[in-house]
Amino acid sequence: MSKQTLTITDNRTGQTIELPIEHDTIPAIGLRQLKAQADDFGMMVYDPGYTNTASCKSRVTFVDGDRGILRYRGYPIEQLAEESTFLEVAYLLLFGELPAATELTDWNARVMAETQIDRSLKDLLKTFGADAHPMGVLISAVAAMSALYPDSKQVHDSENRMRQVLRILGQLPTAIASAYRHRLGRPHIDPDDTLSYSDNFLHMMGLSGDGEVDPVLARAMDVLFILHADHEQNCSTSALRNIASSDADPYCAVAGAVGALYGPLHGGANEAVLRMLAEIGDTKNIPAFLDRVKGREVRLMGFGHRVYKNYDPRAQIVKRIAYEVFDVTGSNRLIDIAVELEGAALEDDYFVSRRLYPNVDFYSGIIYQAMGFPVEIFPVLFALGRAPGWLAQWMELMNDEEQRIARPRQIYLGETERPYVSLNERG
Ligand code: ACO
Repeated sequence: MSKQTLTITDNRTGQTIELPIEHDTIPAIGLRQLKAQADDFGMMVYDPGYTNTASCKSRVTFVDGDRGILRYRGYPIEQLAEESTFLEVAYLLLFGELPAATELTDWNARVMAETQIDRSLKDLLKTFGADAHPMGVLISAVAAMSALYPDSKQVHDSENRMRQVLRILGQLPTAIASAYRHRLGRPHIDPDDTLSYSDNFLHMMGLSGDGEVDPVLARAMDVLFILHADHEQNCSTSALRNIASSDADPYCAVAGAVGALYGPLHGGANEAVLRMLAEIGDTKNIPAFLDRVKGREVRLMGFGHRVYKNYDPRAQIVKRIAYEVFDVTGSNRLIDIAVELEGAALEDDYFVSRRLYPNVDFYSGIIYQAMGFPVEIFPVLFALGRAPGWLAQWMELMNDEEQRIARPRQIYLGETERPYVSLNERG
C-alpha cells in the first residue's frame, strides 16, 4: 500500500516536511512548522469563503456536488422525499437511524407536545410592525427563547440538549405562524397536536381557510421541509457551529444561523427568485434578461451552487411537486417563465461552461406562492425546514472531542506600529 503522507518542500528554505493524510486531508496545523525565519509565525492556508477547508468530521449529510448526490445518514434524498415524513427525517438526522414504528409515534408526540409558545413570546411577536421582515422577526423570536429558557445554558448535559431540541422543533412553527397572523392583523391560531407537523403548520398559518388543509398541500409542505432539512457545512450551518463552539446556548446559535440564512445568496434566494421572475414578467423578455446576467448586471437567482456542479437533486423533486400543487391550487403563471428560463440557461454557454444549474430555490418559491404564502415569508419556510439539520449538527459538535472554539486566522496587511496622533494634530 502507498504511503499515506504528503511531502512538502518549502523552496524558500529547502525545508521538507511530511504530513499524514487522513480522509484525503492534511492537518492544517502541520504547515506551521514551515518558517522562512526562525521567529516567523509559520505557514497557514489562505481560504476565503472556506472553499477547500474541512472544518469538522461529520456523519450527518453527504453531498457529492459533481454527481448531484445528496444523502442524509446514507439515505438518498429522493427516497426520503418519496417515503418519509419530515419529523421522521428530523429523527434520522438527530439520532442517525430511521425510527421504528413505536419510536416514530413517540417522537411525533414528543415534538407536537412542545408546540405551544409562551405568552411573553406571543406578546413580543405582536410588537413588530406589518413591514417587519419575517426573518428579522424569526431571529428575534429564537433569541427571545434563550431568555425564556435559561436552563438551555447547560449545553454539556445531553438530556438538557434534547429538551431544547424538542422546544425548537415544536415552537418554531407556532412562533412563525403567530407572527405571520399578527402581520395580517389576524388572531393567533393555537396548535393542534392531533395533526401532522406540516398539517398543523398550515392550519396555524390559516392557509386552510375554514376547512381542513388539503392533504396534497400538507404533503408538499412536508416534502419541501425534508428537502431543506440539512445540507452539511453550508453558510448558516457553519455560522451555527461557530457560535455553538463557544458553548453558547442553541437558541443563540440557531438565531445566528437564521441570520446567515437570511442573505439572498443563501436562503433568501427563494424570495429573490420570485421577485426576479415577476420582474421578467413574460417569456419573451427572457433573452434580454439573460443578456443582463451575462453582462454581470444581475445574477440568475436560484442558479449556481458552491457545491453542486450538476443538477441539484432537490431542484428536480421541487419541480415535480410544483405540478402536483398546481393541480390543487391552479397554475402559477411564473412556472412557464421559470421552465423556459431554465431551458434557455442550460443551453447557454455562459451557464454550461461555469456548470451553473438550478438549485433548490429555483422552483420552491413558485410553489409557496401558489399555496398562498407571501414572498417575504419564503426564507422563513427554509429556516423551519433546516432546523433539524442545524440541531443535528449542533448535537454532533457538542459530542465531538476534537472540536474547539472556532477561531480562524488572518493575514494582517494593515499598518505596522505607529505613534498615536492627538486630535488637534490630525490633518
Ligand atoms: N448567475 C450568474 N452567474 C453566476 C451565478 C448566477 N446565479 N452563480 C455563479 N455565477 C458565475 C460567477 O459570476 C462566476 O463567474 P466568473 O468565474 O466568470 O467570475 C462563476 O459563476 C462562479 O461563481 P462564484 O460566485 O465564484 O460561485 P460561489 O460558489 O462563490 O457562489 C452562489 C455560489 C453564491 C450560490 C452563486 O452561484 C449565486 O450567487 N447564485 C445565486 C443565488 C442563489 O441561488 N443562492 C442559493 C444557493 S442554494 C442555497 O443556499 C440553498
